[in-house]
Amino acid sequence: MTLEQDYIDLFSYKRKGHMGKYIYRYRPAIYDEILKQEAYYPFKMESDLLIQTSHNICKNFENVRHVLELGPGSQTPILSKTVPFLKALKSHVGSFTYTAVDSTLEYAEHACTLLSQQFDDIKTQSLEIDFLHSNAFETAKNGAQPNDNKLMICFGQPIFANNNDKDIEILLKNIGICLNKDDYFLFGIDNNHNEALLKRAYNTKLTHELLLNSMYYLKSKLNLKDFNPEAFNLICKWNSKEKKVELSLKATVKHIIKIREQELLIDKGQEFNILNSRRPLIETIRKFLAKENLIIKNVISSDTDTNNTFSIVIAQKHSSI
Ligand SMILES: C[S@@+](CC[C@H](N)C(=O)[O-])C[C@H]1O[C@@H](n2cnc3c(N)ncnc32)[C@H](O)[C@@H]1O
Repeated sequence: MTLEQDYIDLFSYKRKGHMGKYIYRYRPAIYDEILKQEAYYPFKMESDLLIQTSHNICKNFENVRHVLELGPGSQTPILSKTVPFLKALKSHVGSFTYTAVDSTLEYAEHACTLLSQQFDDIKTQSLEIDFLHSNAFETAKNGAQPNDNKLMICFGQPIFANNNDKDIEILLKNIGICLNKDDYFLFGIDNNHNEALLKRAYNTKLTHELLLNSMYYLKSKLNLKDFNPEAFNLICKWNSKEKKVELSLKATVKHIIKIREQELLIDKGQEFNILNSRRPLIETIRKFLAKENLIIKNVISSDTDTNNTFSIVIAQKHSSI
């Protein structure tokens, strides 16, 4: 799917909630600001849980020689999640190489720089990849030895929280192709369904700024001179039936924009669902994973902090039957 098509589909309501990859490419530092807010509990809970349980998590791994991180994001999550977790991993399995994959190249490159500063002699690679493209990880599949295992890690929930079902399937298919038998897949999930907490975390000025990045990015990529990317308000709704926070932008003025010779009219008051933050149940996740022969080996939650609604899921690729 091209950038043009993604935006045409958004403004013509053909698809929704699929703009996650565009909100970090403009003003990428805003994401770091979001994580520093006291009310943004997902960052702190996932990081606390990872640090607290990393040695327990690592008992599940053998012969890991390569780590591939999906969507490392900005500096704060790398220093508060990736680095402490990988330090624990190194003490369990020894040295490994590290590949960062992100649709925002700046994030992937910065992740590798930070890793190189924290680990002696680590070999790193940064790749700008849209993980929703078919066979997205082709270039990330490097020549592993038969007994070496790969570990794919993903924090901040870009897989199951930020995609619709169809895109989750596409992404997991790509992951399934990239992982060989016995390779591991590790990610954090949140099962908080408390509307007040979720609204406090997501209904903020900084979330608004993050979503506006999708409009700034459109303006800069397509050189839309008269388009005002600021002319949208944030709409944040908790959909209790589908267990998702729906994040949308509502036009405050009428816009006319031209994409691929196609004139699109955006009326004042129209709402566009930019992305969602879903809270699927573990059983739903288990079913998605099973289609790619990814079997959940362990689910680790905090045994000291009962308010921490995060869990770390460890899955492993089995051979197809
Ligand atoms: C919610 S952030 C998570 C960042 C970080 N791992 C954390 O724990 O906070 C999502 C990350 O995934 C990346 N991302 C989102 N959609 C993507 C896509 N389609 N392809 C590749 N990367 C994507 C973003 O650029 C961002 O770095």
